[in-house]
Amino acid sequence: MVYYKEFFQEWAAHQVLRRPSMKQSEPAFYRRLEQALDVHREKGALIILKPRWDDSVIDFTSSDFLSLSRSGRIRNAFMEELGSLGDDWRLSASGSRTQYGNYDYLRQVEDEIAAFHNAETAWVCHSGFFANISVLEAVALPGDAIVWDELSHASTVVGLRVSVAAHKLSFQHNNPDALRDVLTRLKTDDPAFARGDRSVLICVESVYSMEGDICPLREMVAVAKEVFPTGNAQFIIDEAHSNGIIGPDGAGLVQMLGLENEIAIRVHMCSKALASTGGVILCNKTVRATLAHFSRCLTYSGAPSVPMVASIRAAYQLLSSGQTAKEQGQLQANVRYFFQALLEHPDWEEALDEGLLSVPLAEEWEERSVHSHVIPIKVRPSHEAHLFGHLLIANINAYPISYPTVPKGTALIRLVFHAHNTREDIDYLLNTIGAWAIEMLVIERGESKNTVPAAQRQFLALQANGWK
Ligand SMILES: Cc1ncc(COP(=O)(O)O)c(C=O)c1O
Repeated sequence: MVYYKEFFQEWAAHQVLRRPSMKQSEPAFYRRLEQALDVHREKGALIILKPRWDDSVIDFTSSDFLSLSRSGRIRNAFMEELGSLGDDWRLSASGSRTQYGNYDYLRQVEDEIAAFHNAETAWVCHSGFFANISVLEAVALPGDAIVWDELSHASTVVGLRVSVAAHKLSFQHNNPDALRDVLTRLKTDDPAFARGDRSVLICVESVYSMEGDICPLREMVAVAKEVFPTGNAQFIIDEAHSNGIIGPDGAGLVQMLGLENEIAIRVHMCSKALASTGGVILCNKTVRATLAHFSRCLTYSGAPSVPMVASIRAAYQLLSSGQTAKEQGQLQANVRYFFQALLEHPDWEEALDEGLLSVPLAEEWEERSVHSHVIPIKVRPSHEAHLFGHLLIANINAYPISYPTVPKGTALIRLVFHAHNTREDIDYLLNTIGAWAIEMLVIERGESKNTVPAAQRQFLALQANGWK
């Protein structure tokens, strides 16, 4: 079955209400869960696991930004790394870091990663999500404050829940003045902050996972220093989307800006450009000791296994030896080509003028020296589902993002660019979105006998025909 039919069928099957057909004799626990899920099924908004990978679908979604997974390069590097360990390794760490599991190979790889990132120490853990929670669990002491960019990733939001910090305040996305206001309020309301007797942890991301924009980190650091000159305001930066992509050899935003000494904690993810899995916490020895003592996530959990650490080492060796430079350059070239072609496209011009679509990152794109691989196409709420269906039928995978992943009243199609995208892919993507926009404009102006977009009509016809 072609991918889009399989996807539609699976999605539709999961949106069917379950609670009404359940018998009263079934356990109340399951009836209550199905009822909670039905609330979302009713709106066609139940989150589902997507069917199989399919490389024949044009990829504007995956996290394989540098194509290391698809090309087999990470697999080969990983096999080589494992081979270099000979027979003298065990699969499992057989314990947590504070007990049996702090094995030499893991520590050696951490030292190499710390050196690559110009950091005092590196802590490898199971995932980036887990790393963010672990950091927030440990480093904010009772009475401290966590101040976070309002568009922070879900892992930061979950981390806030487990933290004992007394204050948890957000500030307007990427706005140094808004950060200053929040910091100043804390300082004015509680003299302990002004004295330096309480700390403020400021959570930001190098590249925001939905907006695709880059943090004005230098400006933010200047604001924190201005309001708290005693150094009790420190940054935690999530480098999920910059790792492998920007900075020297893909080392991230902090190193691109030379701010290693200004940022207390950097969290790098290995599940994206590095085509591996795991999180890396870069920090000094004081923070490392704090993690070991206060993070139950890190210390009451088995240490990463040897194969996982080997795959991370393999990825870092590709980065640090410059073997990913071609892909990094190709990715930047692809994004530049996209902006250029978009702004010259006649259908897009009309759609942008009519307010049907917007691409904030296309504004003044030529002024930026580096680009992120995430480019959101902003659409009106509910249009994201139509456009997603339209793209999928055209064999393009680019995910729709709705509330609550993005703020209420907003919606987008999240385009993710890769080294393996071709110019033909990008032209085809632009033409396909352009054709959808024109179709929507024609419907909106009442110039078509159809009031329902073609993709939705095709979906309904397939459903009526039993997905044949
Ligand atoms: C900004 C950001 N932080 C954290 C994560 C989680 O990283 P990982 O996949 O390593 O758990 C992601 C991945 O979705 C992300 O985009």
